[in-house]
Amino acid sequence: MQFSIIEKSGFGIAVAVLALLTCHLIGEALVTEERLANPSYLVATDSSSESQETDRAKGEDNNTLALLDSVEPERGQKLFKKCKACHSVQKGGKNGIGPNLWDIVGRKKAGVSAYQYSDVLKDMGGDWSFSDLDLFLADPKAFAKGTKMSFRGVRKTDDRAALIIYLRTLSDAPKTLP
Ligand code: HEC
Repeated sequence: MQFSIIEKSGFGIAVAVLALLTCHLIGEALVTEERLANPSYLVATDSSSESQETDRAKGEDNNTLALLDSVEPERGQKLFKKCKACHSVQKGGKNGIGPNLWDIVGRKKAGVSAYQYSDVLKDMGGDWSFSDLDLFLADPKAFAKGTKMSFRGVRKTDDRAALIIYLRTLSDAPKTLP
């Protein structure tokens, strides 16, 4: 049998591709097995600072919003302990160091007329959407440079989601999830 150069090199390429594919598949299989055999590996990375950094990056991509329907408001209520020193949540509640937060989701930014907001918040305009709340809570000073809220932010995406879901309950008519 006579093969032309083209046929020969075509065959060569096919063999190379097959070999690559096989290696890839074996590699995949090995990696999957390793993960299954050692599930604690996943849990361990979860609390590392590296994953917290990723969480923060995700918040900037608005991935918190995807978690909103899977987090419990009760968890957010517990997390709200961090905020209680400065914020009341009851309808008609008094302003503290920070403004009252009743009906905050969807409320006008800097919307409590009796409260003295910083200029940056006063000038921001618009309502507190789910995503703006997420960005503000992740890093208040980055979202509103010059804000009076001296709070360093909530790093973890799922913590912010829980907080926002709790804040959403503080209303006579909780806003529809995005
Ligand atoms: C040390 C006090 C303090 C803590 C703790 C704090 N805040 Fe604030 N917060 C403020 C102040 C002060 C403002 C007003 C900011 C401004 O005018 O720039 C504010 C503003 C806000 C606003 C905007 C309100 C509006 O009417 O526009 C929201 C929302 C908010 N805080 C949520 C929270 C949440 C949720 C937490 C806890 C995770 C928290 N804050 C923790 C002091 C605090």
